[in-house]
Amino acid sequence: MKGIILAGGSGSRLYPITIAVSKQLLPVYDKPMIYYPLSVLMLAGIKEILFITTPQDQESFQKLLGDGSQLGCDFQYAVQEKPNGLAEAFVIGEKFIGDDKVALALGDNIFHGNGLGSLLRSKVDIDGAAIFAYPVKDPQRYGVVEFDENNKAISIEEKPKEPRSKYAVPGLYFYDNNVVKFAKKVKPSVRGEKEISTINQMYLKAGKLEVGVMTRGMSWFDTGTVESLDDATEFIRVLQNRQSEMIGCVEEVAFLHNFIKKNEIKVAVKKYGKSKYGEYLQTILREYER
Ligand code: G1P
Repeated sequence: MKGIILAGGSGSRLYPITIAVSKQLLPVYDKPMIYYPLSVLMLAGIKEILFITTPQDQESFQKLLGDGSQLGCDFQYAVQEKPNGLAEAFVIGEKFIGDDKVALALGDNIFHGNGLGSLLRSKVDIDGAAIFAYPVKDPQRYGVVEFDENNKAISIEEKPKEPRSKYAVPGLYFYDNNVVKFAKKVKPSVRGEKEISTINQMYLKAGKLEVGVMTRGMSWFDTGTVESLDDATEFIRVLQNRQSEMIGCVEEVAFLHNFIKKNEIKVAVKKYGKSKYGEYLQTILREYER
């Protein structure tokens, strides 16, 4: 399975912060936002990843993430000229996807929780589509999924004014290769975007959509507004400082999943220098030296 991280969009809800800087490069506590969705795809075991950015931000992402070899991965880059919607990712990424299955992670979505890795790894061989549902207080801000009495998904709507349930669809999606074909058929919505919810509706209609409810043990943040960005930062800060473990440390994920060896961690320790992040990688080295 291949992976796409969508890091385009204008980030206008965060203006003036995002006038000169890409939203997905803003700090969420001690690391750039993009590290979190990247670590999630890597946790799923995905190594070939396409980053889709705005034309003006591509260079910054390349500077930060390079060709991925330092993480035992293969990173590629593509541009979304205009914020035409999430569904366009599969058209832009058609060549990259080739005949494979593909996971899409939104560059501003953060996940953390017990069993996340095994949950994700159970989706990489999906026949059809696998998405998630997460109970929230403000479902009208998201794609919303409705279930029948047997917990079977029966509808999906994008930002409904009157949501049929409290279940939002987080920005992490797993698809078989048909997604490219489906994405080409998506027409822009009233807000002028090619919606990912339309693709999910197509899979639902075909009887090929699996929706897993994320329970209490899982945390999900999107960081589209100043408040939600601040919430995510606070969450990461509190948890990391209490547990002495980092969330979204991509080198750690690469190391624990055998994408890289100790030597690459040593190189990373030099690169990150005296930062907290660099110090954390040093503790990993020490732990595995024993
Ligand atoms: C997008 C999707 C929406 C999904 C959300 C998750 O919304 O369109 O279905 O629930 O991401 O963060 P947007 O970020 O475009 O408002």
